[in-house]
Amino acid sequence: MNEREYVYKVTAAGRVNIIGEHVDYCGGKVLPAALAVKNTVYIRPNGTNKINLKWTTLPDEVTLDIDKLDSYKGLKYGNYQAGSALMWQRAGHKLVGCDMLQDCTVPFGSGLSSSAAIEVSTIAALATVAGEEFDPVDVALKAQQAEREYAGVNCGIMDQYASACGKENHAILLDCKTLQREYVPVELGEYALVIINSNKPHNLVESKYNERRAETEEALRVLKEYADIECLADLTAEEFEKYAHVLSGKVRDRATHVVRECERVRLAVAAMKAGNIEALGKLLNESHDSLSKLYEVTGKELDALAKAAQEHPACIGSRMTGAGFGGCTISLVKKDCVKDFEAYVCEQYEGATGYKPTCYETEISDGITVEKL
Ligand code: GLA
Repeated sequence: MNEREYVYKVTAAGRVNIIGEHVDYCGGKVLPAALAVKNTVYIRPNGTNKINLKWTTLPDEVTLDIDKLDSYKGLKYGNYQAGSALMWQRAGHKLVGCDMLQDCTVPFGSGLSSSAAIEVSTIAALATVAGEEFDPVDVALKAQQAEREYAGVNCGIMDQYASACGKENHAILLDCKTLQREYVPVELGEYALVIINSNKPHNLVESKYNERRAETEEALRVLKEYADIECLADLTAEEFEKYAHVLSGKVRDRATHVVRECERVRLAVAAMKAGNIEALGKLLNESHDSLSKLYEVTGKELDALAKAAQEHPACIGSRMTGAGFGGCTISLVKKDCVKDFEAYVCEQYEGATGYKPTCYETEISDGITVEKL
């Protein structure tokens, strides 16, 4: 590939979520960070009304007609790009015909938000090639809409926001109710953040995800009859205890997870600001436990992966990150023991599940970047 054939290089990041899982669509605060693994779009105008798509890793080429963008749902390749272009166009932005080469280094199906990185970078690239300045938050919102209305996952805003607005060496404390953010430096002292992919294919993720979301909406509907709230995150864990009896079964478990996880985010940020990484580690363990027992989004593989990590002496905390049902864990591990930790966890996990995990070394990075070539 010769980058000089293109006019702009636009990137958007994959992400990990440090804590605050399955609370973004309940108005909670989350703490994701953008990663150096990303989707890169090389783009140039082509003077037609077509968007031509190519990939660095695929032989396929796909052409999208700018006037028929709503007709490509379900495309094997190009679905995310078509949905993103359509949502941007529907918001009143002009699209110009262009050639795009896409290069994704976010592992697919890993729970590190390759889809958000593709959606966000595609929109940012389309705006750039049309000569338009854009607000990254606006791009994130349209990318989320593409995921929901085109790809069919009723997701929250966390992934697209982190992909668009990430900052090197910082996590984003994002209030998903107001979309206000605060950057929190990720300074882990003697610890490293290790990401391990369970490599379990997570095919049920869409339906299960949408089901969890519906359960939290049901909890909110019932609770609203008793408490003056707009979203589940409006209740502190203490207040929730007063009302919990009006909920039952799984719906109660799901709501319990949400309010306690919101509490853990507050504590985690305080711990990070105070440099108390051990306290952060404990919160990661509690989060995983809750996602496993109350929210039931881990499954046997992520549980085995987190358990192996948690029992290693150099690890002070580990949990699943992202939607769950497969994907990755994050662990806080003493820096000089990372190799030993990874070897131990991989062996234990493979023995327990038969899947070979992958360990990633990636940095916390910026969200959208735009470069003129
Ligand atoms: C997926 C969704 C996010 C968020 C997480 C769980 O990654 O896209 O909006 O809900 O799951 O925290």
